[in-house]
Amino acid sequence: MADQSAALGEVLVSAEAIARRVAELGREISADYRGGTPHLIGVLKGAWIFMADLIRHFEIDVTVDFLSIASYGDETESTGEVKITKDLDVGIEGRDVLIVEDILDTGRTFQYLSNVLLAHQPRSLKLAALLDKRSRRIIPVQADYVGFEIPDAFVVGYGLDYAQKYRELPEVRVLRSP
Ligand code: IMP
Repeated sequence: MADQSAALGEVLVSAEAIARRVAELGREISADYRGGTPHLIGVLKGAWIFMADLIRHFEIDVTVDFLSIASYGDETESTGEVKITKDLDVGIEGRDVLIVEDILDTGRTFQYLSNVLLAHQPRSLKLAALLDKRSRRIIPVQADYVGFEIPDAFVVGYGLDYAQKYRELPEVRVLRSP
């Protein structure tokens, strides 16, 4: 294993805290969609671990799909340019769609995705984000479900990367030096 200690800073959200909060969110989302079958769209690659854990706490039926987007590249600043690199496999017309994101930062990605998805006429469209850097928002959007609000720091782990690294960490940590 490579030495990660120089690049990684403090643990912002522990694996235990994530597990507790994701279980709560799974139950809350299930209660809100009771009687229906929400269609979860995970935004790759950052959200796959969160989504995999989240749906295992669902108490209702759920279907899933994934979108892949290119946003940050190897940088830590948003360019505002988002490109879909893997499209949806199934249509969403008339479905109760829940986008699952790793982190809501400037809000640009969510704004772009919601415009694209609303054009396909889902019955409803909501957002679940594991992390929310509210102080960084440029576009005034809000997630319907948030795991943790975090300060303005670049974070990695539990699916989130820097230059494709650190997704495997079980907790969310601050990236000290790239
Ligand atoms: P937004 O478009 O600025 O809201 O950024 C959303 C996307 O930027 C997320 O889905 C992440 O892929 C990426 N991102 C934003 N902040 C971080 C971070 O602290 N660590 C890793 N990725 C981040």
